[in-house]
Amino acid sequence: MNAAINVSHIEREPELLGQTVVVIGGSAGIGLETARRASAEGAKLILTGRSHEPLQHAASEVHALSTSAFDATDPSLLDQFFRGLPTPIDHIMVTAGRPHYGRLIDLDSAHARRALDEHVSLFIEVARNAANKIRAGGTLIFMGGTGGRRPGVGIGIASTVTVALPALTANLALELAPVRVNLVAAGFVDTPLSASLLGEELENRRSQLRAKLPIRRVVQPADVAALAVHIMTNTALTGATYDVDGGQQFIAA
Ligand SMILES: NC(=O)c1ccc[n+]([C@@H]2O[C@H](COP(=O)([O-])OP(=O)(O)OC[C@H]3O[C@@H](n4cnc5c(N)ncnc54)[C@H](OP(=O)(O)O)[C@@H]3O)[C@@H](O)[C@H]2O)c1
Repeated sequence: MNAAINVSHIEREPELLGQTVVVIGGSAGIGLETARRASAEGAKLILTGRSHEPLQHAASEVHALSTSAFDATDPSLLDQFFRGLPTPIDHIMVTAGRPHYGRLIDLDSAHARRALDEHVSLFIEVARNAANKIRAGGTLIFMGGTGGRRPGVGIGIASTVTVALPALTANLALELAPVRVNLVAAGFVDTPLSASLLGEELENRRSQLRAKLPIRRVVQPADVAALAVHIMTNTALTGATYDVDGGQQFIAA
């Protein structure tokens, strides 16, 4: 017997209607795609990035309330940005940053310290600033990865940060409650960052992933954005790490 239900049209309210979503790193890639999806669900967006022009493009696409161009890893600029935010904010997603590669023993100590510190400190600074800005039940969402769960030569920093972020997220979830704090852990996502890291190897990498990943396709920013918006709307979720890597962590790819 065919038990499929034929639902031709499901009507529902937009899930983020009238809510304010801040995306720190919202002018490209996963952040921009999350902004698009949140906007489609009725949210008002506040976007940041370092470069002015892509930020303006992104803002006009999602009809953002406002934008702010600054380096989020600079604590004083971050503090200034948060001081200027309207309250309450419903959700904040942090997609600023990039991975650092290289053998640990080859990195000069200043670089190693900065690389180790960058994501962890950024997330702590955002949490500190966001604590009194996000409404009860709203979310703070961080971006991490699954690639560093398997040790490898040249990914020591990413690997160490990968282990630290779930603990940081769980602890902040307790400290910031009833604001919710969650971590999204991605594998390869087809974004401008991936394109810039891989250069001419990008198409080979996509083909390899299509062949090897259990899902037999490449994870797109829209896949991550769908998860992020779900975390914003599902008020049972806090302190957790959500993998969105198409099974990449279980295979040699
Ligand atoms: N793509 C992947 O495969 C993948 C996998 C796992 C985890 N991640 C992580 O997910 C996050 C987003 O990645 P993505 O691929 O979407 O990157 P992306 O395409 O490079 O987009 C990053 C966004 O953040 C902004 N940004 C970067 N550094 C910033 C800074 N210091 N201050 C303020 N804004 C900053 C960028 O704009 P500006 O450059 O103008 O500042 C851009 O809007 C990153 O933390 C990345 O490490 C990515």
